[in-house]
Amino acid sequence: MDIGIDAAHREQISSGLSKVLADTYTLYLKTHNFHWNVTGPMFQTLHLMFEQHYNELALAVDVVAERIRALGFPAPGTYRQFSALSSIREEDGIPKATDMIRLLVEGHEAVARTARTAFVVAEKAHDQPTCDLLTQRLQVHEKTAWMLRSLLE
Ligand SMILES: [Fe+2]
Repeated sequence: MDIGIDAAHREQISSGLSKVLADTYTLYLKTHNFHWNVTGPMFQTLHLMFEQHYNELALAVDVVAERIRALGFPAPGTYRQFSALSSIREEDGIPKATDMIRLLVEGHEAVARTARTAFVVAEKAHDQPTCDLLTQRLQVHEKTAWMLRSLLE
């Protein structure tokens, strides 16, 4: 395969994207979990907001995984691989609603950091589609973090 990016760079970019995929999948599951288990006076708002967020994340994992495939590498797709690759920790038990919001802010910020690290490698290798994809993901995660953060002020 020759798309104008050498194999070593394609592998480095795929490895960065695999971490973004693992973070996004972990945040997807956390958000869905919180959608199911949230309680309290903010139930309706949070239940619906978390649903919008996990739906967006579910679409995003597909796009990230398929970019890895287009670069010629296998996409991680098991919980074991995701937990080894992810920078986002899972919770024990069910947090209070405000803790859920705080944990999701931290999750979106974590994906943004992972995406930024991956971006640097993609940019160096002139991988414009990956840069474009990561830019879009950064916009979503930073905007979502801001919206969630605003609920805590
Ligand atoms: Fe639901």
